[in-house]
This record gives sequence, structure tokens and C-alpha cells, in this order.
Amino acid sequence: MADEPLVLGIETSCDETGVGIVRGTTLLADAVASSVDEHARFGGVVPEVASRAHLEAMVPTIERALKEAGVGAKDLDGIAVTAGPGLAGALLVGVSAAKAYAYALGKPLYGVNHLASHICVDQLEHGPLPEPTMALLVSGGHSSLLLSEDITADVRPMGATIDDAAGEAFDKIARVLDLGFPGGPVIDRYAREGDPEAIAFPRGLTGPRDAAYDFSFSGLKTAVARWIEAKRAAGEEVPVRDVAASFQEAVVDVLTRKAVRACRDAGVDHLMIGGGVAANSRLRVLAQERCEAAGIRLRVPRPKLCTDNGAMVAALGAEMVARGRAASDWDLSADSSLPVTDPHVPGRAHAHGAQSHDHVHEVGEENLYS
Ligand code: KG4
Ligand code: ZN
Repeated sequence: MADEPLVLGIETSCDETGVGIVRGTTLLADAVASSVDEHARFGGVVPEVASRAHLEAMVPTIERALKEAGVGAKDLDGIAVTAGPGLAGALLVGVSAAKAYAYALGKPLYGVNHLASHICVDQLEHGPLPEPTMALLVSGGHSSLLLSEDITADVRPMGATIDDAAGEAFDKIARVLDLGFPGGPVIDRYAREGDPEAIAFPRGLTGPRDAAYDFSFSGLKTAVARWIEAKRAAGEEVPVRDVAASFQEAVVDVLTRKAVRACRDAGVDHLMIGGGVAANSRLRVLAQERCEAAGIRLRVPRPKLCTDNGAMVAALGAEMVARGRAASDWDLSADSSLPVTDPHVPGRAHAHGAQSHDHVHEVGEENLYS
């Protein structure tokens, strides 16, 4: 609908420079430039390399998104940007770009949370999120079960990993198997040809006295690494496909089991899965099976919208505009450890209880880059 907010979203929290444009819950453009190849030889994302790549990709990616959407920058109703969590230097590039565009164009600026964006993006695929929504958020840095009544204002953690994130475990096991970086997609591929029951790897925190909604992947990671080392030490060939499939099964078994239990206990009949690991093909299948059996409706965005992108930031920004949330102040800054409970980042002036103001007209240039 033409009266829905037209929002451009910028994402630079890790190694993807994402720029998305949405109108309400309709996706118009999703441009992504990735520096993943530049990090591959280091086996992980190098923050300085990522920041530099964002700087180079920013303007061309914004232009590509505007062209793809067929809209002019002047038509935008707002500019949203990931304010955190993520790599500090990488986030700063996105926040600075968003401020510059918003200020120059006279548009409101919305600092948003990367994690809430991973949830909100599903609106672009399956329409408005039910309220409340249970979300299983699984990415390279986070693994949590979150209950949200309103994705722009209220995100409550039910449980989270006590050590590694699910994506981190995929990346580490891929490294041990010499499969390269990032590990998730390649393990997913190898696992398709392996036997998920070949090796019985441990399921962390699934004992009767363990926290019902928390996760732990560090023990699993060690068990898999030890198993591989023992094979190598004995001079035997490592069955890469079976290891990948059995490891992956251990991760997705626990994720789906706990997510379904959280829905049941909270009386929520919808489960949303978001974040890079939600692109995992086995997770998607098993979640579907278990949700169906429990009478829960599953919502998972298509894989391209699960991994980092700008459309998810635009989706949450558009929801902020639609719900009349205040725009962020010009002193908005990147917060590398922004808590998941803060979907909307108003800026420091608001955070300290200062008076809210109509930011575009009242704020001077002097604090634009503070
Ligand atoms: O959400 P995301 O793109 O970035 C962060 O916010 O962290 O998630 C990246 C993580 C990486 O650890 C990557 O290995 C994992 O998501 N990932 C996958 C798959 N695709 C990406 N993990 C399992 N299976 C996949 N198909
Ligand atoms: Zn992410």
C-alpha cells in the first residue's frame, strides 16, 4: 500500500554490507556486498578488514538498492541502521552512513537492534508477526529463545546459550574438518550425504535438572574435535560427511526440542526461527516436523533473509515508523554489546531521560558525528 512507510535499512554489524528497502512489510530491494572472501584465509572475520570493506561498499550498495527498488532517496520516510550488537568498527561505518544520508535528506533516523531485525524480517515473507511470537534466534554470535509481544519495544529472553553460539559451533567444527569459513553452509552441504546417526554426539543441557531453555554447545564442540583427533591419531580416515551430519543433528535436535518446549510452556502457538543458522536445511525440516506434531505454526524466512542483510533492518525500521516510535537522536552511536532486550535505540539523549525532540529540525550539525 502506498501509505505504508518506505524505509531504507543499513546493516554492517559483521562482514555483510546490506542495504534493503521495504514499504511496510513488502520487500522492494535487498542489496548485499560481502567481504567473506577476504576473511576466508584467516578462518574468521577480521574486524579491520570488515570495516574497510563496508566503507568501500556502502555508497555503491545504497545506490544499487535504490535502483533495484525503483525509488528515489527523497521518497524515503526514514533510514534505519543496525546500532548493535556487532563489531564496533563495522557498526560505526553503517551508523555514520545512515546519519549522513538521513541528515542530508532531512529524514528521520532509526537505530535498531540487529537481533530484533533477524526476527522482524519474517514479516517480509509471512506478513505481520503474531503477538506474542516465540523466536529461536540462532546466529554466529547468539543463540536464544525470545518471547516478544511487540518486536519494536518488547523482547524477553526465555533462555540463551551459556557458552558458544550455534553458528560459532558450526564455524569451529568446519575449521577442525578443514572445510573453510564460514562453516554453516559447508557443513550443511556435507551433512546431506552423511548419516546423522553414525556418531552419537552429546546433547548439551538436556538432563532433567538442566535449565529448560538454555543451550550449551561447547561440550559438543569438544566431543566432536576429540573424536576427529582420535581417528587421525589412529591413522584412520575421518568420515567427514558422517561427522558433519551427526554434529549438525546434535545441534538442531536440541534447538528444536527446546524451542517447541518453550512454545508449549508459554502457551504460544507460533514459532519463528531467525539468524544465519536458520538457513540450515536440516534445522528447517526438523523444526517443521516437530512443530507440526505439537500443533505449532512455524515461520522461517527464506535462507537469503536469514543470513545478515539490510532488508531485515529496513523491516524493523518500517515497523518502528508504523508504530509511531520516536526517531533516534543524532548522537546515536554504535553499541557492540547492545542487549537483545533493546530493539529500538533512541540515542544517548533519550537514554539519559532528556526531552524528546523532533530531531530533524532541532539538532545542529555539531553533534552529527558525536
Ligand atoms: O546471522 P548471521 O548471518 O551473522 C551473525 O549475526 O552472526 O549468522 C552467521 C552464522 C555463521 O556462524 C554461519 O556459519 C551460520 O550463521 N550459517 C549456517 C548456515 N548458513 C549460515 N549455519 C548452519 N547452516 C547453514 N546453512
Ligand atoms: Zn546476524
